[in-house]
Amino acid sequence: MTPVVVVFVLALSAGTLALDNGLMRTPPMGWLAWERFRCDIDCDHDPKNCISENLFMDMADRLAEDGWRELGYVYVNIDDCWSSMQRDANGRLQPDPKRFPGGIPRLARYMHDRGLKLGIYGDLGTHTCGGYPGTTLDKIQTDAQTFADWGIDMLKLDGCYSNATDQEQGYPLMSKALNATGRRIAYSCSWPAYQGGLPPKVNYTQLGEICNLWRNYGDIQDSWSSILNIYDWFFTNQDIIQPAAGPGRWNDPDMLIIGDYGLSVAQSQAQMALWAIMAAPLFMSNDLRSLDSRSRAVLQNKGVIAINQDPLGIQGRRLIKEKSGIEVFWRPLSDGASTVVFFSRREDMPYRYQTSLKKLNYTAGVYQVYDVYQEKPLPSLKDSTDFVVSINPSGVVMWYVYPAKQTLSDGKLYGPARRHHGKYFAPPTHL
Ligand code: GLA
Repeated sequence: MTPVVVVFVLALSAGTLALDNGLMRTPPMGWLAWERFRCDIDCDHDPKNCISENLFMDMADRLAEDGWRELGYVYVNIDDCWSSMQRDANGRLQPDPKRFPGGIPRLARYMHDRGLKLGIYGDLGTHTCGGYPGTTLDKIQTDAQTFADWGIDMLKLDGCYSNATDQEQGYPLMSKALNATGRRIAYSCSWPAYQGGLPPKVNYTQLGEICNLWRNYGDIQDSWSSILNIYDWFFTNQDIIQPAAGPGRWNDPDMLIIGDYGLSVAQSQAQMALWAIMAAPLFMSNDLRSLDSRSRAVLQNKGVIAINQDPLGIQGRRLIKEKSGIEVFWRPLSDGASTVVFFSRREDMPYRYQTSLKKLNYTAGVYQVYDVYQEKPLPSLKDSTDFVVSINPSGVVMWYVYPAKQTLSDGKLYGPARRHHGKYFAPPTHL
């Protein structure tokens, strides 16, 4: 049998340069406060939910004790409203003393002791979006050094209250300043989101050289319509966005809202699958202390995580947009594997979609298919054989596809699937 080679055009994009701090070779995973907890600073009346060290320690405990950390969810990220309204006597940012009485270094140690990492939030401008002290150009070095001294592992630098010129200067300057501290601090840039996300205003080559990830577009909210809005923007603009991603440099469509109030189970599976196609950072913004079991199952699905975290780091694309409301996505993965996602934008009932791997551009051959959400292998499939998938309204069917075992020229069995399966999937019995 001839070796099966899935068309690999997208791989061409992986050779570009990334920020040289060696971090985030696969999309970062963890937890981020903003979408779920916003700027709740009322610890007197809402002690469990206010932005305070307790909230971050609670989430760290859950990540460490409930199986998240082992799956890769290691960042615990503070967002806006953590700081005091004034800088200290030396011009350094300081946390609100009432809500963070132990200080940030102690919080960072808390994370590190548990094998986790601590992220923090700043804003390149006079104020953060929530009105807290910002990082004007003259404060960039001070703030980078402060974060490094505190043991911070990641900085999200927002762009409220700054203009295009400040941003053009400030975002690269902060990148340099972080590197100059000698501490490896991952760098998330909101810059493109403030410039409309598209060239000529946005230069994705430059972003890849200075940032590990970047917000391209607006804020996610707790609703399915918000996901669709983000999704539409990212895939309408995929020709621009998709080649920008690669190891160490990721597009960020914003947080996962799975486990909050706005999504059904099908929609939760869809967000996770589409974020995996996009090689997106997986920052959950939910309450891990009271997560329901169905959301947990989606967020902890090993197959979808493995696909998101594929070491090639090639972002996927939408291949097909049918009039019926069915859309098909494809992402190449390492070892000749790939993922296919069938997504339904319909609002009526499960839709039976008929196609074949050949129609999805697969080269001739026999393939093994693993259904990621059913968590089981399907019968092997010839490229030319038509099949039918039943896709729930606003839901997905997600497949991990790999060439059937075959003999290489040296007589050894070609077994890419086993490597993937070894770590993440239950090995199919027929392999
Ligand atoms: C902006 C960002 C959000 C969040 C808020 C905080 O809107 O895009 O992700 O950080 O600011 O105020």
